[in-house]
Amino acid sequence: MATVAESLIKKIEGREARVGVVGLGYVGLPLAVEFARAGFSVLGFEVSSEKVEALVQGRSYVRDVPDEQVAAAVEAGRLTATLDYDRLSEVDAICICVPTPLGKTGDPDVSFIMSATESIRRTIRQGQIIVLESTTYPGTTRELLLPALSDAGRLTVGVDFFLAFSPERVDPSNPVWKINNTPKVVGGITPACTQVTEALYSTIIGRVIVVSSTESAELTKLLENTFRSVNIALANEMQVVCDKLGVDVWEVIGAAETKPFGFMKFTPGPGLGGHCIPVDPHYLSWKMRTLDYKTRLVELASEINAEMPRYVSAKTADLLNEQGKPVKGSTVLVVGVAYKRDTDDTRESPALDVIQLLAEKGAEVRYHDPLVPALRHEGKDLESLPLDDRLVAESDVVVIVTDHSGIDYDLIRRSGRPVLDTRNVLGRAVREATTPVTAGD
Ligand SMILES: NC(=O)c1ccc[n+]([C@@H]2O[C@H](COP(=O)([O-])OP(=O)(O)OC[C@H]3O[C@@H](n4cnc5c(N)ncnc54)[C@H](O)[C@@H]3O)[C@@H](O)[C@H]2O)c1
Repeated sequence: MATVAESLIKKIEGREARVGVVGLGYVGLPLAVEFARAGFSVLGFEVSSEKVEALVQGRSYVRDVPDEQVAAAVEAGRLTATLDYDRLSEVDAICICVPTPLGKTGDPDVSFIMSATESIRRTIRQGQIIVLESTTYPGTTRELLLPALSDAGRLTVGVDFFLAFSPERVDPSNPVWKINNTPKVVGGITPACTQVTEALYSTIIGRVIVVSSTESAELTKLLENTFRSVNIALANEMQVVCDKLGVDVWEVIGAAETKPFGFMKFTPGPGLGGHCIPVDPHYLSWKMRTLDYKTRLVELASEINAEMPRYVSAKTADLLNEQGKPVKGSTVLVVGVAYKRDTDDTRESPALDVIQLLAEKGAEVRYHDPLVPALRHEGKDLESLPLDDRLVAESDVVVIVTDHSGIDYDLIRRSGRPVLDTRNVLGRAVREATTPVTAGD
């Protein structure tokens, strides 16, 4: 007699299992489409009726997921979405991809996870696997989800149902690394939980990495993003160091990068954005504070990175000052407002803080971003203005915050207007053009 785990694995390998994805955002939608493309019947669960409507009509709203892929999966009857959480009992596998922002006090906000978990608890049945993918602090799966889903002992984890954590590694607008070729880490509450999770993701992802616990899987994700936060903080501090020494930080980093071992290039910038790098380290430091340990390096890095928008607005004031102009009444053109290049995501974008800081000093701030046609910030509506000679000529200073690839940087360079290039996109163009082509390139 096959165990519940064996029957579920058989159903998964046969693509007969129904897959549910809770939260169809930047992470959940590509995952849902990937499972549908692998032949599964996928049911998406959302709280946003606009997103459900768009999906049911075969439309995507995530830049990295083409409409055609959604339309094809919907037309094939393999993808649909609903607001009806009672239908969670219909699916065999459930991936939770809801937001994990910070609360007003800067502490983790796991309310979205708990609301999704409560919906699953109400309909949970034997033969289901539940995987938490939302980035969170170590212990969330075991301490919060397991007690809720065991439903007062009615079901036994690892026997009747299966529970695991598997971090999401989406990198929006990354041209190379997609869901199906980015190794996936999985860690279950029990060995059977891990086996079922491994079987599930092996259907869509080439490499699945098994770790010994949900805590290890949760911490793996936090290490990956904290590693970036700490190294970007070092690069940002180097920017300030170089300023004070009158040295070009980009030249220094470019030179250090030529060392073939022991150095990894990170670049300074206007600050961190998005829902990952500026947020995730706080999940780690908060958890460690509950264990009476202060993660000094992690917290210091977050402080240094959070200071960068203020540093950029001060440098902008310096550039105006060199022209004998006050910030008050000057026209500042901000180029790029998304949190990183070639995405339309403005969540926690440093550009928003730079705009706010300069506006507070009385500057007239305008922006150009080909991927963000309109912006609402602090109750104000802003629109992206077309980048042309007149717009640049009318600006007292141009501040490049996000280095999207589709922007005409030559127009900015030719204008002769003072430019604060926080991404060295103007510098980069010169170096590449002068590099001689050598044999075998
Ligand atoms: N965006 C990224 O680049 C990225 C990368 C790696 C990890 N992550 C992590 O993945 C998780 C999801 O992030 P995201 O960027 O996809 O967020 P998102 O805001 O784009 O999507 C989350 C979706 O969940 C929905 N939602 C909220 N509560 C819900 C509920 N109770 N039931 C169902 N749906 C609900 C929201 O309407 C939204 O559509 C977060 O933990 C984030 O840290 C994000």
